[in-house]
Amino acid sequence: MEGFNQWTVPWTTPELPELDEIRAGNLEPPEFHIEDEQIEAYQRDGVLYLNGAFEGWVEPLRAGLARNLSDPMAFRFPAESNAEGEPGRFFDSYCNWPLIPEYRDFVFRSPAASLAGKVMQGSYAQFFHEHAFVKEAGTQRATPWHQDIPYYTVRGDRSVSIYVALDDVEEDVAVRFVRGSHRWGEVFYPKMWLDGADFNVGEDGYAGTVPDIEANPGSYDVVGRALTAGDTILFSFKTLHGTTDGVMRRRRRAFSTRWLGDDMRYLERAGESSPPFPDPGMSTGDRMREDWFPVLWRH
Ligand SMILES: [Fe+2]
Repeated sequence: MEGFNQWTVPWTTPELPELDEIRAGNLEPPEFHIEDEQIEAYQRDGVLYLNGAFEGWVEPLRAGLARNLSDPMAFRFPAESNAEGEPGRFFDSYCNWPLIPEYRDFVFRSPAASLAGKVMQGSYAQFFHEHAFVKEAGTQRATPWHQDIPYYTVRGDRSVSIYVALDDVEEDVAVRFVRGSHRWGEVFYPKMWLDGADFNVGEDGYAGTVPDIEANPGSYDVVGRALTAGDTILFSFKTLHGTTDGVMRRRRRAFSTRWLGDDMRYLERAGESSPPFPDPGMSTGDRMREDWFPVLWRH
């Protein structure tokens, strides 16, 4: 598919005033206030709901996403995951924080970095990338059950995605999670969005295909709930998640930022990865380079 997993706009080391400010110690993201019990729940379940946590960021993030949608090829990794002739639209795009000012504001000036650092219970929060999604009304396409980590060129346990709902979502089409799956000690093959097929099959380090959660719902602790715009879901890169193929009755936009904690290290993958950073200048086991992945919060 045209544009699928492609650097339509090449990756270069970000040069931004915010990064200079961070390096000079003049920019510190605001604190997120979170209870110890919530941090424990995140550690235990690998998923945590925070109602209304980023309510004030819904409008700016929608505006950022509108830029992305207005000219998809001017931004990175525009992907359409609806087959030809299917109703609706499933669009996503990522790694655009240096190009979209509203995304950048969220990354550098919202309490997201502090929230990430606190729930990962480490000494810092390092920004990995952001990812925006749109499912238009009428779309009937499941996001297959998957973990995020097998797509990424990282390994480790201290990770979090901060997923901000930008529209209200009914429970039957909301993202669902398998609680505790981040602690199974298993990383399954990643899947193609378009047809749910495994890829990177046969490579080292995978535990096989994702179990058939849909067919055995009683065997898994599945959680999913309706969301209001601004509601936020935190989940680990290792937590299994997916959606049903229920029909979207209205547009669903979402904005996710991904964060790395103390034990996350570069992992070179033989097969396809996302983002497929070119010439990363890192070897397996290295800390992720801070000029590409800035540390935005320290404890
Ligand atoms: Fe995912």
